[in-house]
Amino acid sequence: MNAIEFHNVSFSYGGSFAIRNLSLTVGEGEFIAVLGHNGSGKSTLARLCNGLLEPDEGWIDIFSLSVGKRRNLFTIRKNVGIVFQNPDNQAVASIVEDDIAFGAENIGLAREEIGRRIDFALKAVGMEAYRHAACSRLSGGQKQRVAIAGVLALDPKVLILDEATAMLDPRGRREVMDIVTRLNREQGRTVVLITHFMEEALRADRAVVMNRGEIVMQGTPSDIFERHEELITYNLALPRIGCICEALKQGGLPVGATLDEEKLAEEIAQCLSRQND
Ligand SMILES: Nc1ncnc2c1ncn2[C@@H]1O[C@H](COP(=O)(O)OP(=O)(O)O)[C@@H](O)[C@H]1O
Ligand SMILES: [Mg+2]
Repeated sequence: MNAIEFHNVSFSYGGSFAIRNLSLTVGEGEFIAVLGHNGSGKSTLARLCNGLLEPDEGWIDIFSLSVGKRRNLFTIRKNVGIVFQNPDNQAVASIVEDDIAFGAENIGLAREEIGRRIDFALKAVGMEAYRHAACSRLSGGQKQRVAIAGVLALDPKVLILDEATAMLDPRGRREVMDIVTRLNREQGRTVVLITHFMEEALRADRAVVMNRGEIVMQGTPSDIFERHEELITYNLALPRIGCICEALKQGGLPVGATLDEEKLAEEIAQCLSRQND
């Protein structure tokens, strides 16, 4: 079964279209990255997934349930958890465990079940030691992990991260990305990672690039990164290491597209040893 299906969806905030005739299918258990420069429609796409916004045209199904039907919204919102960009805007309670419990309380779960879900969610994001901590004392990365835990307490099948690492330092970013990768690989949750960090997109099974409300590129992350010139036309620049790969290839060293330093070093070594043979 597919987790997410967009069928010819258009949406405008009144004036011009933020999403134009967009079709997209995300399979259950898939990890997809959505790339695109500011204003390309990524957040609108996220909000359409759980009915926070309704399409002007086309339709959306989440696990075969139509988002357009009011009676499906409760189930859909339980199944699609969204973590947003700003770690400081997401806490609703001052203590970590209360914050994680909030959503679970809102869907009317029994006390013991909420307790179990808090345990599970804290463990999943590696924050067991902070159960009684004040949210305000946490680092940005820790706050986002608590935000993810709050969403996980609802046991969603789909996790959408809308630039959830954008305001974090490199360490916080890695913490969050490691957790998200595990939630996908080990728990089989479908992940939609909206990001403008190309290296994060490398962890995905598939990447799509958005521009002006449309999907303009689609493929495996390394396929997409190989299409360097095209990325630039959509205002997406490869990180420095990507440019180095390009330069090496142009210079006659056939390395693959990677944004991982160790992998690149390995590839260079392999190429050189082949050339010396
Ligand atoms: N609440 C809003 N009211 C009016 N226009 C909006 C609103 N939110 C977004 N837009 C516009 O819709 C387009 C897509 O925005 P958005 O989905 O936020 O893109 P992204 O997340 O890729 O930056 C942009 O042109 C933006 O200005
Ligand atoms: Mg956005």
